[in-house]
Amino acid sequence: MTETVHDAPTPIPAPSPTALSWPQDRACPYDPPPAYPSPGRDAPLTRMRLFDGREVWLVTGHAEARALLTDPRLSADRRHADFPVLMPRNRDQRKVDLPLLGTDDPRHKEQRRMLIPGFGLKRTAALRPDIERTVDTLLDRMLAAGPEADLVAAYALPLPSMVICSLLGVPYADHEFFEGRSRTLLLAETAEETTAARDELRAYLRRLLDAKRETPGDGLLDGLVTDQLARGELDREELVMMALLLILAGHETTANMISLGTYALLRHPDQLAALRADPALMPGAVEELLRHLSIADGMMRVATEDIEMAGATVRAGEGVMLATPSINRDPAVYADPDALDIRRSARHHVAFGYGVHQCLGQNLARAELEIAFSSLFARIPTLRLAVAPDEVRAKPGGTVQGLFALPVTW
Ligand code: HEM
Repeated sequence: MTETVHDAPTPIPAPSPTALSWPQDRACPYDPPPAYPSPGRDAPLTRMRLFDGREVWLVTGHAEARALLTDPRLSADRRHADFPVLMPRNRDQRKVDLPLLGTDDPRHKEQRRMLIPGFGLKRTAALRPDIERTVDTLLDRMLAAGPEADLVAAYALPLPSMVICSLLGVPYADHEFFEGRSRTLLLAETAEETTAARDELRAYLRRLLDAKRETPGDGLLDGLVTDQLARGELDREELVMMALLLILAGHETTANMISLGTYALLRHPDQLAALRADPALMPGAVEELLRHLSIADGMMRVATEDIEMAGATVRAGEGVMLATPSINRDPAVYADPDALDIRRSARHHVAFGYGVHQCLGQNLARAELEIAFSSLFARIPTLRLAVAPDEVRAKPGGTVQGLFALPVTW
């Protein structure tokens, strides 16, 4: 585990009168919050005030974001006394050793190396037939129960949940339990609720991993138990938190992309028609949807040294928030950045992050998204919203963006 860098928080400096307050809701579920600075027009680094009065730097420029995300003077260690607390539910974050996403190199690199074989291109390609079968089963069920459905409950959530369970070796029969606790971790009001949900997930995972020690199966977690845990390269609590992160990141993000991506395509019928007419456009369309929707808003870091960037000085101890929806619409990189254009090259987006923490599950997520959209639109050519577009309930700012429900009909 990494060392805690500072024990006492740096005193709160005088507030900036122009700082935007966090969180900001989106007005349209797939566009950046209207109050966010606009890259190309506004400064690439501006100030943002958090609920506890602290201010952080909000980064909206693409070049600045990529430079900062590869700068070792920024730390992802949430145990740092100055690591920004984004929401009241995160007040206890210093007490938690979060592997990977919350750990700096060199330990981060060691943890990541243990997982690479499970998430590489080869392993993901081998999972495609399983993903296709799962998609077909879910669509058969949805069509049989139709002609109306909540696409989140019937399709967008169960698909990544089933896939990550099978990959990790977690019983899908327990999905209501871990999906519910994951939702609490991402949406709860208070730190008490978050801590309780995390403790319940940890207790569940401890039991699961202990059972695997007795009778190993063939999941990724079984391999970590019989290999790295047995050899002492991982300790039990580190593995428990790693499993927790993989379950959470493995289903919530992809589920939000499937529901929000479907909504965005239904609202852009010209783009959907082009995609239906030429299925070869699908991989590019997935990249463009990742860029355009940028569901993982607000990647966080803390500076461990002063950093000069675009005329601003990020002081040691200051927080930095990377605003993916704005960064991915920087006109210096993307022409007509607000347009959803499945034929453009959306390469270099930061929807999966950038640098050492870039999404470990991105190959898996791409495979799931390609198969999910292809089969959904091929099997249900008349798919449409069952309610007015503005009646669709979108998630609030301050969490992974997506939809609570997506009523559709056909
Ligand atoms: C479309 C779906 C997904 C999106 C948009 C997404 C987005 C992201 C982003 C933005 C980061 C970097 C965060 C940062 O630097 O602070 C990240 C990291 C990560 N993601 Fe994903 N993710 C997705 C799917 C998945 C899946 C399916 C998994 C599988 C378990 C996964 C596991 C992880 C892990 C473990 C990390 C931390 C990597 C590290 O710190 O080295 N993600 N993801």
